[in-house]
Amino acid sequence: MSLFRKKNIAELIRGTEKSGLRKSLGATDLVLLGIGCIIGTGIFVLTGVAAAKYAGPGIMLSFVLSGLACAFAALAYSELSAMVPVTGSAYTFAYVSMGEIVAFAVGWALVCEYTIGSAAVAAGWSGYMVGLLRSAGIDLPAAWTAVPADGGILNVPAVIITTFLTYLLILGTRESAALNKILVFIKLGCIAFFLFIATPHVDPLNWQPFLPFGWGGVATGAAIVFFAYIGFDTVSTAAEECKNPNRDIPIGIVGSLIICTVLYIAVAAVLTGIVPYSSLNTSEPVAYALRAIGMNFGSALVALGAICGITTVLLVFMYGQTRVFLAMARDGMIPQNLVKIHPKYNTPHVITMIAGTVVAILSGLLPINIIAELCNMGTLFAFMLVSAGVWVLRRTQPDMPRPFRCPAVNVVVPLAILLCGYLIANLPVETRMFFGAWYIIGMCVYFAYSRKHSTLAAKSADSSRQPPFDTQ
Ligand code: ALA
Repeated sequence: MSLFRKKNIAELIRGTEKSGLRKSLGATDLVLLGIGCIIGTGIFVLTGVAAAKYAGPGIMLSFVLSGLACAFAALAYSELSAMVPVTGSAYTFAYVSMGEIVAFAVGWALVCEYTIGSAAVAAGWSGYMVGLLRSAGIDLPAAWTAVPADGGILNVPAVIITTFLTYLLILGTRESAALNKILVFIKLGCIAFFLFIATPHVDPLNWQPFLPFGWGGVATGAAIVFFAYIGFDTVSTAAEECKNPNRDIPIGIVGSLIICTVLYIAVAAVLTGIVPYSSLNTSEPVAYALRAIGMNFGSALVALGAICGITTVLLVFMYGQTRVFLAMARDGMIPQNLVKIHPKYNTPHVITMIAGTVVAILSGLLPINIIAELCNMGTLFAFMLVSAGVWVLRRTQPDMPRPFRCPAVNVVVPLAILLCGYLIANLPVETRMFFGAWYIIGMCVYFAYSRKHSTLAAKSADSSRQPPFDTQ
């Protein structure tokens, strides 16, 4: 049994035609799905931490650096997701380009990205919610709003929001996408409002010194605020539910990434322009900065927008997570029973419920910074493998139709791999070690279960039972 057995692209596309998932999403839905997942905890929470501790006003350059890594990876994603418009995103791309064991490795990285990332986002949501309630005079007991590492027992608000969104996802993509749309518009409105009221208060002296921690600080900042960009790849996990994936997926991926990059650089510039960067290490830097310049009402409004923003991120992350599991289970990598489609709602309700429970437990118990870094690690690793997959497929299947071709592929792909590798090198050593441990567990699962149960294993067993030539 080859570790590098591959899936056939044409067969894959035919297989999805009877998957039972409803094809309801268009290009605008996908751009909104992308923005819904991209703008959240990263810009609202991590920008302040990264500016104060690592990059200073140079955080603007950190956003440019990780934005570039994402832009190159986004072009690779777009080529593959237009070519292989099926659920599973990077995992499926690896299966057709580099073979089963690499696919499993990517799927395992995506489970890390979505599950651990969802937990981090839920924890960020809880922080903002607790803060907003406090400013409205409602003080929740500290023990039930903090994780054990921060002296609490359980982060109950994080558990509650995760459970509620799991329920929405079980009800169906269409309903969730509709809610997502409303929340995305509120979030974009709040960011525009922040830029509008805060820009006149920018004092260019706050941008001096521009690089207080040198280039090293900018690079470390980039490895952290990379979290703010994660999410555009989720668009490709929805490929099977699109009306016209070949056109809409590249629009969704590239469009949402461009909009978010412009907004991030603007928010980073204004944020570090209105208060000294060293004061931004708080759990709600944007709201804090507005309060610091005397705009209390604006601060409350922006906090509300942040809560909406983070809610949409969580919704789309949890959605993406179930779709990766769906793809892996369909291939026999995890038990097939897990992906039964609900007869009424047309959603994979069993896996959605299990994944939601795991996210709720993680978010209730683990600290946000550690999980955000781990999520970055998994995502960067998946981006590197996807980018390599574009190259491999260009060589192994040059004639396969490519509705979207990555421009200057020999420049874009190596740059994507190098930049993602550079960001990984700037993550804490412990993160890389934890990720290594995660992979050891993953390989145990692969060799103990997935390799034997993979649908490709069943196929090769069938073909070895066939007579060597056609007797009819
Ligand atoms: N990009 C997402 C966020 O900022 C993960 O929360």
